Amino acid sequence: MKTALITGANRGIGFELARQLKSRGYRVIAVCRNDSPELKALDVEIETGVDVTSGESLNGLAERLRGTRLDLLINNAGLLKSSSMAGIEDEIDDWRAQFEVNSLAPIRVTSALRNHLNEGSKVIIITSRMGSISDNTSGGQYAYRMSKAAVNIAGVSLAHDLKERGIAVGLLHPGYVRTGMTGNTGHIDPEEAAAGLIERIDELNMDRTGSFRHANGEDLPW
Ligand SMILES: NC(=O)c1ccc[n+]([C@@H]2O[C@H](COP(=O)([O-])OP(=O)(O)OC[C@H]3O[C@@H](n4cnc5c(N)ncnc54)[C@H](OP(=O)(O)O)[C@@H]3O)[C@@H](O)[C@H]2O)c1
Repeated sequence: MKTALITGANRGIGFELARQLKSRGYRVIAVCRNDSPELKALDVEIETGVDVTSGESLNGLAERLRGTRLDLLINNAGLLKSSSMAGIEDEIDDWRAQFEVNSLAPIRVTSALRNHLNEGSKVIIITSRMGSISDNTSGGQYAYRMSKAAVNIAGVSLAHDLKERGIAVGLLHPGYVRTGMTGNTGHIDPEEAAAGLIERIDELNMDRTGSFRHANGEDLPW
């Protein structure tokens, strides 16, 4: 049985990834700060109390999972807070928080769990096309865009660093999805986003490591 660990699994896209991977027969380790009734009803393993911005929290998680090999590590937890050029001084804590969650945490989580990965494991970072420089045709959302652009380049470094261990890294954009993050506006529901993400995860291999793709199968520009 394959094992998948997903951060931010209590709601939104992360919850739906947990639900669909469970129904595909994975052993699912759902990581969150607080669980939810929906997650509890899924019959997956739940690791609560894990803040992805806390090294202590992540080391505790790695310790509790000692001996568990992860076939799939999905860095899904994310944060969007609106930000503007004129507002930076008033919003500076929110800007920093987005870097903590969106840019630093995927690397901190992957580093903490690196000894749980083996040849054939896959590391996924749920990023956003809002972190694409060439796709930025409308401006605004400085902190979120910057934090996702930063995680994109970090994901490429991870792909290089993990290549010799035979571990593939994928940077995936889920689409514009109706979740708490978007105030339930968007083009698709989490069910469709997660289904597309899982198809892209299935396609990920060492030839595609370090790629930036949309859940719908498009390759995205940096
Ligand atoms: N929705 C979209 O249209 C869209 C588009 C592009 C990319 N994305 C990306 O997709 C991913 C999932 O987004 P979503 O739409 O499902 O968002 P969401 O519904 O707002 O869920 C965000 C998840 O991240 C968790 N999280 C945030 N900060 C955390 C922290 N410090 N420690 C642990 N968990 C933390 C949240 O946990 P709590 O419940 O504890 O807050 C929640 O489980 C994110 O990386 C997001 O940037 C989403």
